[in-house]
Amino acid sequence: MLVASVLSLKGGVGKTTVALGLASAAAQRGVRTVLVDLDPQANLTATLVPDHDASAAPTGGLTTIAEVLADPRRKVVRKALRPSAWSGRLQVLVGSEHAETHNHPDPGSKRLSRLATAIEKLPGGTELVIIDCPPSLGQLTRSALVASDRAVLVTEPSLYAVTGVQRALEAVQAERAAHQRGLQPLGVVVNRMRPRSVEHEYRLAELHELFGPLVLRPILPDRAAIQQAQGAAVPIHQWPSPGAKEIAGMFDALLDRLLRAGDRRRVRPVPIATVAVPDPV
Ligand SMILES: Nc1ncnc2c1ncn2[C@@H]1O[C@H](COP(=O)(O)OP(=O)(O)OP(=O)(O)O)[C@@H](O)[C@H]1O
Ligand SMILES: [Mg+2]
Repeated sequence: MLVASVLSLKGGVGKTTVALGLASAAAQRGVRTVLVDLDPQANLTATLVPDHDASAAPTGGLTTIAEVLADPRRKVVRKALRPSAWSGRLQVLVGSEHAETHNHPDPGSKRLSRLATAIEKLPGGTELVIIDCPPSLGQLTRSALVASDRAVLVTEPSLYAVTGVQRALEAVQAERAAHQRGLQPLGVVVNRMRPRSVEHEYRLAELHELFGPLVLRPILPDRAAIQQAQGAAVPIHQWPSPGAKEIAGMFDALLDRLLRAGDRRRVRPVPIATVAVPDPV
């Protein structure tokens, strides 16, 4: 199982769009995937589980990510897991406004490891977990990093992109050093690129100069098809327009990159003591 967080320092740059695009690609390919909606806005859940009420009172008996973060036992995790409207192989740990109560500024390692504990309780056979983070580097995003093998940083090619990516990378390094040695940045997804924008070209060049190969390809363009598919809550792979087809292919490439990272992660050096010595013939 590979766990990836989608994060950014800034709001509205496309984290949920990237999480949904990867989910659409995974559904298309039949990869058993769990989406974790860690954002109290719960936009991802609204798209994938339209009948879920993310504003319901915590006392109402509905189990969500907020209850999971308070008590990450197997039975709570399983109750918060809902089938998605997109595919039988795609499930969602549903979001809640009340997840905000778990966004402590200085949480301590016990709180930070609760999501990792919950993810261990997901059904066997889960191949990929994608965590959609809120737009801040508080407890929720940090706990996503503690639970993750890979961090997908999202930015627009705008004025503060470089400093935003820099700070997000520092957050990844800090969690790696403190809690999760296996965590690595997958890279930076540049989203909403307008090809004829001089400003965007300039900012993209700046990102390439500073972060080199960490800037992932393809760069995602600004396309109406993304908003149209999201508005209709339809996977981008099923939205009938040439623009959507192009974007779907880009998410296929990003999913490939993510799954390749998972393959590499599984190839670990075999400890010398366990290497079998063949019998003499
Ligand atoms: N490449 C794109 N082309 C066109 N519209 C886009 C693109 N990426 C994102 N958008 C639109 O921008 C808006 C914000 O995107 P999204 O919700 O994915 O950002 P976010 O980073 O998850 O926001 P938040 O920080 O509030 O969670 C949405 O309406 C989405 O449809
Ligand atoms: Mg979002």
